[in-house]
Amino acid sequence: MKHTKGSIEVICGPMYCGKTEELIRRLFRAKLAKQNVQVFKPVIDDRYGGIFKISSHSGSEFEAIPVKTSDEIKAKIEPNTTVVGFDEVQFFDEGILDLATELADSGIRVIIAGLDLTFTGEPFGVMPQLMAVAEEVSKLSAICMVCGDLAYRSQRLVNGKPAHYNDPIIIVGASEMYEARCRNHHIVPKD
Ligand code: ADP
Ligand code: TMP
Ligand code: MG
Repeated sequence: MKHTKGSIEVICGPMYCGKTEELIRRLFRAKLAKQNVQVFKPVIDDRYGGIFKISSHSGSEFEAIPVKTSDEIKAKIEPNTTVVGFDEVQFFDEGILDLATELADSGIRVIIAGLDLTFTGEPFGVMPQLMAVAEEVSKLSAICMVCGDLAYRSQRLVNGKPAHYNDPIIIVGASEMYEARCRNHHIVPKD
């Protein structure tokens, strides 16, 4: 049951929208279809007690290989691999774009999950390019923690207050400092 056609699928949206759950769902289904699956993640994501797995906020998990750079991935792809998953792809360097394309061109199904927007509401890293070259993009929504509407943004909170626009883009974390918000309730002070 070998793939004949490679492709790129992107799963994006704010924090808590279910990107990792959806990635894991697709990976389990690929395994049911007897595909050889490998999953990679940036080593800086050490949430939920493990760098050797991807974990969702609701507790689902899948084994993963932590890497520092996109270059490291190529050497770790096994010859019989047919499906490659990436989680937290917004943290990867630009090399991930060529790598994803190369893998898809060689017949591999590439499934990518990542944040489309930073806490400031701006495109995150290489995500826009990946979304452009993908065959399929799924944009998921979370629930706004203020009003219950659909949320497409991630609110960073520092001591309970909205983080400043000039704060560092990358800070690994979960509910202690981030919540999902709709456009109306997403606040990014600039002064
Ligand atoms: P992501 O990888 O997009 O951050 P996960 O797949 O890890 O999301 O987790 C999604 C799960 O997070 C949901 O199924 C739900 O159980 C939980 N969750 C917590 N807060 C929210 C929220 N504000 N909106 C939707 N789901 C939430
Ligand atoms: P998640 O999408 O699986 O919930 O994980 C997103 C990770 O990205 C989490 O560790 C917090 C981090 N993050 C940043 O580093 N900068 C940001 O601007 C945002 C929104 C999240
Ligand atoms: Mg996730």
